[in-house]
Amino acid sequence: MRRLVGAALIATFGFLTGALADDFPSRSITIIVPFSAGGPSDAMARILAERMKTSLGQSVLVENVTGAGGSIGVGRAVHSPADGYTISFGHLGTHVANGAVYNLNYDLVADLEPVVLLPSNPMIIVSKKAVPATSLKELLGWLRARPTSATAGTAGAGSGSHIAAVYFENVTGIKLQYVPYRGTGPALNDLVAGQIDLIVDQTSNSINQVRAGTIRAYAITDSKRVQSAPEILTTDEAGLAGFHMTLWSGMWVPKGTPKEIIGKLNAAAVEALNDPGVRKQFENLGLEMPPKDLLTPEALGSKQKAEIAKWWPMIKAADIKVD
Ligand code: MLT
Repeated sequence: MRRLVGAALIATFGFLTGALADDFPSRSITIIVPFSAGGPSDAMARILAERMKTSLGQSVLVENVTGAGGSIGVGRAVHSPADGYTISFGHLGTHVANGAVYNLNYDLVADLEPVVLLPSNPMIIVSKKAVPATSLKELLGWLRARPTSATAGTAGAGSGSHIAAVYFENVTGIKLQYVPYRGTGPALNDLVAGQIDLIVDQTSNSINQVRAGTIRAYAITDSKRVQSAPEILTTDEAGLAGFHMTLWSGMWVPKGTPKEIIGKLNAAAVEALNDPGVRKQFENLGLEMPPKDLLTPEALGSKQKAEIAKWWPMIKAADIKVD
């Protein structure tokens, strides 16, 4: 008897989740971006949201829930209903590094389901215009000669810009003084205004200011130059060989979201990534498209786990901790 009731409950649950998935989406979807509006995560999410709404037939809204290196926004998504209507947008910082930096009340792997891997953003070393150095070598000399540490803007402990700057400190032996913001959008505004000295930023965030000549660019932290700004040297060419860091992004949904719904979200995101208009916008920002065979939820899940294994030991060794 008990077995019969169990089977009936499973069948009913299966029917209900099936019905939920069939109707999906029947209302607007929200992408939670865990950093400020106007920054690189926000920009990527808004370009995707605009195109995904065509495939999904519903509006796709972007909500900026900022603070604590993006961990507050991710937490909001983790604790939302597992129905596909709330998507967690994030990157190597929020969905990998933060697990080693913060005492989170959620597990980045066990409490989220991966949806899709998104483009990667090589980092770029940029300074305010008033810094006299015009090459990376001169910048390193200028930083070493200063009586006090230079100020480096970040999007908070554990964010991409913070991890990249800590990595820069490790590689060069130069100490920086961190100035945390709720995103590198506002940090960049302060760099342009000369309030901080430098940012190890996502290329897509800084590239337009570099083009406008309002800040200085020293190197792209990748082994190859960015197509849309080929005049900027790589770190290998500029004198910091091997200092490579590319910030990949992705989308996740709360654990327990039906597989069919994840499949629909994945298909809409992949359609957006294949759209020539979207690709053009990403290319102009210096973003690198993920390989086509890595656009499955499983590929993002494997990448996230591999990156946790790679970065957590370095982050723990650098003792970046916020309780
Ligand atoms: C942002 O959108 O502000 C960034 O992704 C922040 C960062 O991680 O550096």
